[in-house]
Amino acid sequence: MQTGTCVVTGAAGFVGSHLTDCLLSFGGRVIGIDNLKLGKPANLVQAVHNPNFNFLEIDVNDYAGCLRRLKQEVKGGEFAMVWHLAANSDIRAGGEDPEVDLRDTFMTTFNTLRLMKTLGIRRLAFASSSAIYGNYPGTLTEDTGPLLPISNYGAMKLASEALISAALETFLERAWIFRFPNVVGSRATHGVIYDLVKKLQANARELEVLGDGCQNKPYLHVSELIAAMIFIFQDAANSLNYFNIGTDSSSTTVKYIAEAVVREAAPQAKIRYTGGPKGWPGDVPMFNYSIEKLRRLGWVPRLTSNEAVDRAVKEIVKETPG
Ligand SMILES: NC(=O)c1ccc[n+]([C@@H]2O[C@H](COP(=O)([O-])OP(=O)(O)OC[C@H]3O[C@@H](n4cnc5c(N)ncnc54)[C@H](O)[C@@H]3O)[C@@H](O)[C@H]2O)c1
Repeated sequence: MQTGTCVVTGAAGFVGSHLTDCLLSFGGRVIGIDNLKLGKPANLVQAVHNPNFNFLEIDVNDYAGCLRRLKQEVKGGEFAMVWHLAANSDIRAGGEDPEVDLRDTFMTTFNTLRLMKTLGIRRLAFASSSAIYGNYPGTLTEDTGPLLPISNYGAMKLASEALISAALETFLERAWIFRFPNVVGSRATHGVIYDLVKKLQANARELEVLGDGCQNKPYLHVSELIAAMIFIFQDAANSLNYFNIGTDSSSTTVKYIAEAVVREAAPQAKIRYTGGPKGWPGDVPMFNYSIEKLRRLGWVPRLTSNEAVDRAVKEIVKETPG
């Protein structure tokens, strides 16, 4: 695949680092941006050895700083596109302090678009989320509505999608919006598996699990997510391309995840559920994603949600230092 020189925001994060490695494997040049607030330099251990990679430790909302550093990186060529993944990934923290998602989930999109306009970059791929659908009771297709998110994070992702749509009327030529489900796998910086592994490391006798364990959602392995993103990028050629990415109708309960983590990390631990249907305010306890549009384009996942979780639990336990 021809990728040219790309900018990846959120490059030191969980998904951003895997995407960076994938884009570099195609032979393109990648400029990674991250403020390292949630991301980790260790996630870029493979990328930093590649001469086609450069990392800018900077906040996307530092517009003047990003503009100056990106202009230095152009080196006579042009940026082919931006993959915008920088965001707050701590949904609970965003519920407690609305500034968090305004700044890191919405303003990062606003400033990414502003930078792209100034630098004449006309293609954008964006990491959106199932959180834009809120607590919708039925199957979620891309055209489900009304869209009423129940978290500040979901609201700011939805507002970001709206901003991208509006930019297509002015300077953007093409955009790809990927609505991720829950993504799991190595290099996780957050998420239910990561949280449970950390808790067990702190107390190997008892594992506290938020909610009643019945929350039931689709989990996709990060390797499949990246494959789907690349597939959509190559094959969807509308001006605005928006897709749910998910598992093939399977989903996994929190109880299944807790038991898998205990089995792998501390088999003697007892699981204690805090009770109630939700893990925290803003948590969508259940959703049912349709990936029919993606299937029609020609991509299907190989792993079920439980298989993705099993693989991710092994990866995360192995790489998480106690
Ligand atoms: N992992 C999932 O399950 C999931 C689900 C839905 C959507 N997403 C979206 O995918 C993207 C990647 O998520 P992730 O799971 O890799 O999370 P992550 O936290 O590991 O990655 C996000 C990265 O963005 C960086 N960042 C945040 N604000 C920044 C700012 N102002 N300037 C520069 N860098 C900033 C963080 O330091 C972090 O490295 C995000 O946009 C997220 O909302 C993830």
